[in-house]
Amino acid sequence: MFPVTRMRRLRMKETIRGMVEETRLDVGDFIYPMFVVFGTDKKEEIPAMPGIFRLSADRLVREAQRVRRLGIRAVLLFGIPETKDEMGSPGYDDNGVVQTAVRTLKEGVEDLVVITDVCLCEYTSHGHCGIVADGAIINDPTVELLARMAVTHARAGADMVAPSDMMDGRIGSIRRALDEEGFTDIPIMSYAAKYASGFYGPFREAAGSAPAFGDRRSHQMAPTNVREALREVALDVEEGADIIMIKPALAYLDVISLVRDRFDLPIAAYSVSGEYAMVKAAAQQGWIDGERVMMEILVSIKRAGADLIISYFAPEAAEILSRPAS
Ligand code: PBG
Repeated sequence: MFPVTRMRRLRMKETIRGMVEETRLDVGDFIYPMFVVFGTDKKEEIPAMPGIFRLSADRLVREAQRVRRLGIRAVLLFGIPETKDEMGSPGYDDNGVVQTAVRTLKEGVEDLVVITDVCLCEYTSHGHCGIVADGAIINDPTVELLARMAVTHARAGADMVAPSDMMDGRIGSIRRALDEEGFTDIPIMSYAAKYASGFYGPFREAAGSAPAFGDRRSHQMAPTNVREALREVALDVEEGADIIMIKPALAYLDVISLVRDRFDLPIAAYSVSGEYAMVKAAAQQGWIDGERVMMEILVSIKRAGADLIISYFAPEAAEILSRPAS
């Protein structure tokens, strides 16, 4: 009790504060999402995401080399195709934008873990995550296409696949398809608890993947639910997921924390485009200290229990972490 106990004793000096930190961000925690387009020497800034670009494969390699030098081990690749159709077929083409970029990255960047997004929404003309019939996404035929897509990514050399579609049964189907093709050692990072979120706005602009009609609430989770997230995670674990992802991150720290308590798999949290855009916009206005808020958000995600943090901030945060500690 006071006056024997004084909580401020350990807070008096920067050095001692550093010694008693309970949570530390490490550059090895980060996965950096990247957007790839066809062509050469292309670098198109995404309006609501300052500092994030759609890059052609040649530029992608250079940017990936830069982030790898910062200590970031893994990238998560999203493709923006030239054409789209009802079935999302450019998404499971061996010469598609992602498949081509994976080959280029694996050749051009040493020791980089290349993870690919598996979902049809960037490749369908209607922007939905699957095949649409009578205005609804039909689950089982969509799952077959997702499995095909995952195999094309693995064949191109992807180190890991990350299905973000939220169809039922896709983890099991993707696992079987990969195994049948001999990719038994390619892990699946499952977007297990992915919420129907307004925080994806800038991403959809970046990827041109906003649904032409309706929304994603028939497959993504309601922001109100957390017990349901535990069921989603349990199912994906049973179906063979190797890493579990929760998305978005900041508004769902309770979900991360609960999943951490209940499951022993590595947990990834995706700090999504809207989380990035909010910080950047407020910082540009001079309303917040962007760097400080960024680091605070990232450490909160780790403190909640995430092992891996997928974030557009990764390179900036990595640079800050490489500064010598006081
Ligand atoms: C779907 C996908 C989305 C994001 C990642 N994968 C968009 C969606 O579900 O509509 C969002 C990522 C972000 O906002 O940063 N392929």
